[in-house]
Amino acid sequence: MMGRGMNRKQRRGKVVARAGELSHGMTKKFHLRCQGNTIEALLVNYEGNIYAYVNRCCHLPLSMDWVDNHFFTENKRYLICANHGATYEPATGECIWGPCFGAFLQGIPLEVSDGKILAFCPEEEDKERDVL
Ligand code: FES
Repeated sequence: MMGRGMNRKQRRGKVVARAGELSHGMTKKFHLRCQGNTIEALLVNYEGNIYAYVNRCCHLPLSMDWVDNHFFTENKRYLICANHGATYEPATGECIWGPCFGAFLQGIPLEVSDGKILAFCPEEEDKERDVL
């Protein structure tokens, strides 16, 4: 959902990857500067589609990768938190097994432009959700 009175074209996105850079089962970490804070996030290719989430588990506010940039299960079907095994659907960020069952990773809005993947701060959308 777009912020009121401001669309994504007017907000500044950060180039985080080239389109086609990641294949299925690959992830790439990146950082976004949002309202004075640095957010660590991960780009995910699952079955050819690209998603991005804040790298913060829904169970405890910890990074999910113990081994740097290792988020997928062995079979590349799910994202998994290395801390206590919370398991997430890559396409939705929903926790489908573990201590935060039913919770969702915070999504990062993405856009593809000129062969580049741009990421946007999630705050605008979250604020809008809060007031609806
Ligand atoms: S911190 Fe991720 S499962 Fe506990």
